[in-house]
Amino acid sequence: MKKVYFLSSLMLLSFFIEAQPVPSIVGPGKAINPYKYAIIKNANYTRAAVSSAHPLASLVGAHMMKQGGNAFDAAIATQLALAVVYPGAGNIGGGGFLLARRNNGELLGLDYREVAPGAATKDLYLDEKGNPNISLSRNGHLASGIPGTIAGLFATMPYAKLPFAKLVQPAIDLAEKGFVISEREANGLNNYKESFLKYNTRPIAFVKEGKWKSGDTLVQKELAETLKRIQKYGASGFYEGETAKLIVEEMRRGNGIISLEDLKNYTAKLREPIKFTYRDHDIISFAPPSSGGILIAQMLKMIEQFPVSSYGFQTRKSVQLMIEAERRAFADRAEHLGDPDFWKVPVDTLISNTYLTRRMKDYDPDKAGVSSQVKAGIISESKETTHLSVIDAQGNMVSVTTTLNTGYGSKTVVGGAGFLLNNEMDDFSVKPGVPNVFGALGGEANAIVPGKRMLSSMTPTLMLKNKKSYLTIGTPGGTTIPTSVFQALVNLIDFKMDLDNAINKPKFHHQWFPDEVLIERDFSPETRKQLEAMGYKIKETSPLGRTEGIRILTNGKREAVADKRGDDSVAGF
Ligand code: DON
Repeated sequence: MKKVYFLSSLMLLSFFIEAQPVPSIVGPGKAINPYKYAIIKNANYTRAAVSSAHPLASLVGAHMMKQGGNAFDAAIATQLALAVVYPGAGNIGGGGFLLARRNNGELLGLDYREVAPGAATKDLYLDEKGNPNISLSRNGHLASGIPGTIAGLFATMPYAKLPFAKLVQPAIDLAEKGFVISEREANGLNNYKESFLKYNTRPIAFVKEGKWKSGDTLVQKELAETLKRIQKYGASGFYEGETAKLIVEEMRRGNGIISLEDLKNYTAKLREPIKFTYRDHDIISFAPPSSGGILIAQMLKMIEQFPVSSYGFQTRKSVQLMIEAERRAFADRAEHLGDPDFWKVPVDTLISNTYLTRRMKDYDPDKAGVSSQVKAGIISESKETTHLSVIDAQGNMVSVTTTLNTGYGSKTVVGGAGFLLNNEMDDFSVKPGVPNVFGALGGEANAIVPGKRMLSSMTPTLMLKNKKSYLTIGTPGGTTIPTSVFQALVNLIDFKMDLDNAINKPKFHHQWFPDEVLIERDFSPETRKQLEAMGYKIKETSPLGRTEGIRILTNGKREAVADKRGDDSVAGF
């Protein structure tokens, strides 16, 4: 794995750019009006499109492409805007994965996942008796890994065309001038008010007297100043100097352990993407430390030997087969997957046809599987995230999933710097057999080690058609991410749905343990009954994922779809 070394030259570059102020595109009567905007769920654009969790962020990305930028410029600017307008998951205090295919066929997998602080230990979240204290891995100062997002954005810069100063300016303006919040955001901020008060020692922008309501303006002055430091000094405006000092001071006020050295040492890494075919479709997804790419490869290849389309969409037969594939893939996740720099992940075996055919040997179409009887395969070698998809006029495709982990991360805002820190440490296995917040199990492969990346389920994914750019897709949802992407791909490939239906049709989820099937409220009641009659335990759950996808139609148009399940919105031209 190569490290990404070009951060310092970019810092220098942004220093020179800083001399000229960047004109603002944010304000009433300007390209982006933060006080009046609409949600667009589905549109076909002639040249370029963005789909993200927030209308303003999608507009910012599309605007950058209109100004001569490419899909990478759009992805950088959209992520920065999301850090302001979508504080529950958009972030500079978290991390993510960017997967891209340039129009010349080159693939890029950029890993900017958080890492465990240098002072972290395997037993960090266990008390003297060895019992886990999961509140510490989920809330407050000790829950955070070293943020990777800003390093990731600067590692993306060599592929972009516009200066960073220009890409970050809309985010600065949105933070400084404020933007109007939706009902969903107002509810989010109100629901977490108590936690915000509990886990912060300084006044923060997310707490106000009384309740937030839709139409209120959220202003984030301290965040604007942090973004300006990044605009001025590049990545060192975050990992060193004033911002780093504020992070470490915040740690001292809580029980946090992130140090100046941890911040200075953080690097984004290049990862070789996971590539495979499913029914002659070329699919590309993210490699460890995300489990996502391996999981969707496993699930798709486990069902490839069956005539899924003839079973029909969400019939008992097709759903049961897919549940059993999901169960087996998640059993492998718990045993075999972790940060590849610390744990040997048998990638080739895990996604090989021979192994996956063997894995389905005990599959019985007439009987519900039982997780306690399904173990990980034996191999001889040793809830709040956000996704954005972009395709530009040249056919460059970018797929980014980024997160603070659960909604509003650790709930701790860096005092004086105005951004939320992640609670990603909970994605490590705090103790074998103790599930994380998403119920995922793990062991040695995903144990805490200083400098190690915690295993993720994020699954930014691309698909080609006739070896050319075709689809970019992904979603939030913790462990339900790979199963949502899996089902969207099966909907497109086997059930020949258009992108809107592939994304918005009801979804289901099984993850080995707990041994139950989660279904969305609009899942077929008939199929549910039939599965229950077979012995499956079925539970209705809140919406599964918020998938953003764009594909290139045969007429060259960019069909952009934003999931119906949130405020997600597309933009383009
Ligand atoms: O990396 C992961 O798998 C989790 N931290 C993602 C969390 C997530 O998707 C929450 N969103 N709904």
